Amino acid sequence: MNVEITDKIKKIIERDKKIMLTTTRSPYPFVPDTGSGEIITDISGNNFIDFSSFISVYNLGINGNKEIRKAIKEQTDKLIHGAFTDYYAEPPVIFAEKLMSMFPKGFGKLFFSNSGTEANEAALKFSKLFTKRQYVLSFYSAFHGRTMGSLGLSASKSSQREYFGPFNSNIHVPYAYCYRCPFGKEYPSCGMACVDYTKKNVLQKETSGKEISAIFIEPIQGEGGYIVPPKEFVVEIRKLADDNGILLVADEVQSGYMRTGKFLALDNFNVEADIYTMAKSIACGLPMGVTITRSSLGDIPAGSHANTFGGNLVASAAATASLEYLKKHLSEIKSNIETSSKIIMHRLNELKQRYEIIGDVRGIGLMIGIELVKDRKTKEPAIAERETILKNCFENGLILLPAGVSTIRIIPPLTISRKTLEDGLDIFESAIITGNKKLHKST
Ligand SMILES: Cc1ncc(COP(=O)(O)O)c(C=O)c1O
Repeated sequence: MNVEITDKIKKIIERDKKIMLTTTRSPYPFVPDTGSGEIITDISGNNFIDFSSFISVYNLGINGNKEIRKAIKEQTDKLIHGAFTDYYAEPPVIFAEKLMSMFPKGFGKLFFSNSGTEANEAALKFSKLFTKRQYVLSFYSAFHGRTMGSLGLSASKSSQREYFGPFNSNIHVPYAYCYRCPFGKEYPSCGMACVDYTKKNVLQKETSGKEISAIFIEPIQGEGGYIVPPKEFVVEIRKLADDNGILLVADEVQSGYMRTGKFLALDNFNVEADIYTMAKSIACGLPMGVTITRSSLGDIPAGSHANTFGGNLVASAAATASLEYLKKHLSEIKSNIETSSKIIMHRLNELKQRYEIIGDVRGIGLMIGIELVKDRKTKEPAIAERETILKNCFENGLILLPAGVSTIRIIPPLTISRKTLEDGLDIFESAIITGNKKLHKST
């Protein structure tokens, strides 16, 4: 074990536990202090490689870079908060124009908020406004946030929803989680049984397509387990929406902003949505959410939606500087994503051949998941083993996050260096060996 859990760390955690209402917290005592690129140092001086991008936020590296921090400082000295939904200001307009240029033709208006869940709340309200329809479809294992509207859309873990319902306007339908097909079939011989179920049951028995305002989809499910659907699934869902006049909302909060090697993850499926939501990485760690709509949908009535902090001037300056950096270095960043992705996939698939515990390896670009199982035939989730592996990685200087029931996500900064990537994978490999040993001891 290389990492030292000092009294300083223990004391902060003790104080936190006394005063903070419990949140999700990772299974290891991580108290970050300072960092840059893909290396983070905790308050006791322990160094870690970051394979989490701090929950998919630092896509351009921890703390961004000098240009982004300069833009943040300059705007901070001018004006921090501009009450943008009441008054006018240039920084949010500059960012909006720049961001819009990254979207397909036909996208023209957007709304600023402060988080992913708020971006989805706005998309939910706008869908209802635009269509005057009351229901909304989303998928099992989806995660769209934790405020009441977005929580209604989410169906990742019952612990997230327990006692908060009812969520009257939501209907959940199966996602193409092919590794654990809810119909016990295999792709492609399944004939897209999951989409067929939605068509035959939800649209014919539960309601009709005429009453559904929107289908919310994560192009790759994130919190629910890093689940990558076949292209055909996403294409079929777009068709189902079109056939019924339903809007397609792509939640790109985690999968967007080049995470998959494309600015929009949905582009990997050659499908366009009608509304996109983004957050996490767009303002380099400052809170920002954005809901982007197709121009043909029109505007929303005055007073129907607003907030206090949306379009915050410092967050807008950070977002503009981040996007400018991304655009300027696009080809380098894209090529780093491609090379790093190949290296990770290769290493993980090699590990999969050697260790029973790895049930599935999947991902696009630098959004990669490893699903752990106790037994490859029964696919029983290796939950305790995952915890052992995450802790073991932490103790040896690698930060990783879980997803779904027994998946580990690998989402390093898009700018990660080859050397750090290989070092992180070495730590991960040793942890897998430990997890696999534990598995064989307990069976
Ligand atoms: C796909 C997706 N949508 C929405 C959210 C919610 O974002 P936030 O935590 O910023 O509210 C998340 C957060 O993990 C997410 O991954």
